[in-house]
Amino acid sequence: MAAAVKDTMNSMLSAMHLGGDMKEETCHPPSENDYNNLRERFEKAKQGHVFNFYDDLQPEEKGFLYQQLEPVDPNHINEITEKALHPPKPKDDEEGPKLEQLPESAQCSVIDSKQDDLDKWYEGGLKLVADNQVAVVLMAGGQGTRLGSSAPKGCFDIGLQSKKSLFQLQAERIRKLEQLARKAHSKEEVTVPWYIMTSGPTRKPTQDYFEEHKYFGLNRNNVVFFEQGVLPCVSMEGKILLESKSKVATAPDGNGGLYSALINNGIVLDMEKRGIKHIHAYCVDNCLVRVADPTFIGFSASKDVDIATKVVRKRNAKESVGLILQKDGKPDVVEYSEIDSASAEAKDPKDSKLLKFRAANIVNHYYSYRFLESIPDWAHKLPHHVAKKKIPCVDEQGNAVKPEKPNGIKLEQFVFDCFPFLPMDKFACMEVKREDEFSPLKNAKGTGEDDPDTSRRDILAQGVRFLREAGATVTSDDPEADVEVSPLISYGGEGLEFLKGKEIKAPAVIEKQ
Ligand code: UD1
Repeated sequence: MAAAVKDTMNSMLSAMHLGGDMKEETCHPPSENDYNNLRERFEKAKQGHVFNFYDDLQPEEKGFLYQQLEPVDPNHINEITEKALHPPKPKDDEEGPKLEQLPESAQCSVIDSKQDDLDKWYEGGLKLVADNQVAVVLMAGGQGTRLGSSAPKGCFDIGLQSKKSLFQLQAERIRKLEQLARKAHSKEEVTVPWYIMTSGPTRKPTQDYFEEHKYFGLNRNNVVFFEQGVLPCVSMEGKILLESKSKVATAPDGNGGLYSALINNGIVLDMEKRGIKHIHAYCVDNCLVRVADPTFIGFSASKDVDIATKVVRKRNAKESVGLILQKDGKPDVVEYSEIDSASAEAKDPKDSKLLKFRAANIVNHYYSYRFLESIPDWAHKLPHHVAKKKIPCVDEQGNAVKPEKPNGIKLEQFVFDCFPFLPMDKFACMEVKREDEFSPLKNAKGTGEDDPDTSRRDILAQGVRFLREAGATVTSDDPEADVEVSPLISYGGEGLEFLKGKEIKAPAVIEKQ
């Protein structure tokens, strides 16, 4: 990547993002001149109210506020807020965007693919892993507000007997995959680097958690943490909100902040140094995720696409999942919060029992390295979306307010908004089995859907399936009891032949041979 392009990108992106871990007590107040210049910049952009309490602040508080605001371009904030709040609408005589299913040529399904193809993709993908060309990117910057836990979601214990957290399950799948690739290709050393994106609130607890657990047996040099940016929260009228008199209210810039974070933190450079060519990116909340899945990597690499994505069949018209489709002839996702009910409920013209748009996005993406290398060319085109939230802030008199209904907006980018930048022949979609690959943890215990109990249930049910497929019998006196198969024993159901003909009495954990 040309150094000049990178420099431009870095300065452009840092202007949009506030620093993450600044400490108030170490901030020095700005000079009178610097303060006046900054204030003028904000006043010109009609955001001068952020300095309303400046004269009441202690010197270090002045420095703290200055350091937060100095990298922010208030005109840019105004511009993205305006675009997010008032996206261009089609004129009366214009039709809205044309939504269609993806063309057949861009799709495959593991459910009805030929076994030969599945084997070919798996073997091709495993070879790329063995050649150290595959890396994994985890998006773990979300704050898990729906789950009602303040710890990072990846640390969550979903109630398995082993007490393994989501992070541990994912780490062990990486270890197992490295081992499978080493064995299959007689390699001494196979490494799948794991790049973990956190945000201001999740960075420290995530890193501490990995330290405490000794990186779950992975080499710590191959687990790289990096932080996504944050953006100021704004009022419904687009005014930057203050959390206190000296602190700007901020929020992570959405999972689409991934792309600028990959460049700004030198992650794409690190990939280049390591010779990475194929990348699997996924969300932290899915206990069944097949990290760096060789079948998916092999499929995507064989099609020579720049992005591929896994989908499962949408359960019903109301399920909160984004839909992979084509919009005006380009690959795209329509998010669940943004789809109109007629499109959500439309039936497939070829089979009226099925929804027309049923390819549910499970945020498992393949990227070619060359695509990530091109981020500086297109990252500035990613739109921002509006999430109306209850944002603690100070009122005009400087009193702290804890709102009971949404009072402001978080501006978020979505990771899939770069899909339409690709021509259709550089995009592919693979349908996978929900029961094997998707059980997200979104809601608090007791919700009954996408909660810790459904995560636990789905992983245990998969364990029982793996054992039965291997020819073992699973018995239990307790209908609720299940079997947990450690990822260290089996990545995706393979390697369990030693249990053929054996009886396993549930509950049990299959951890060693
Ligand atoms: C997401 C998808 C949706 C999909 C669903 C499946 C997006 C924008 N939407 O929705 O299409 O059907 O998952 O489960 O991808 N994250 C960050 N930084 C942020 C915000 C989020 O890293 O600033 C991470 C989270 O840690 C999580 C992932 O992104 O790993 C998804 O975030 P979440 O808010 O749970 O997305 P959904 O709204 O469920």
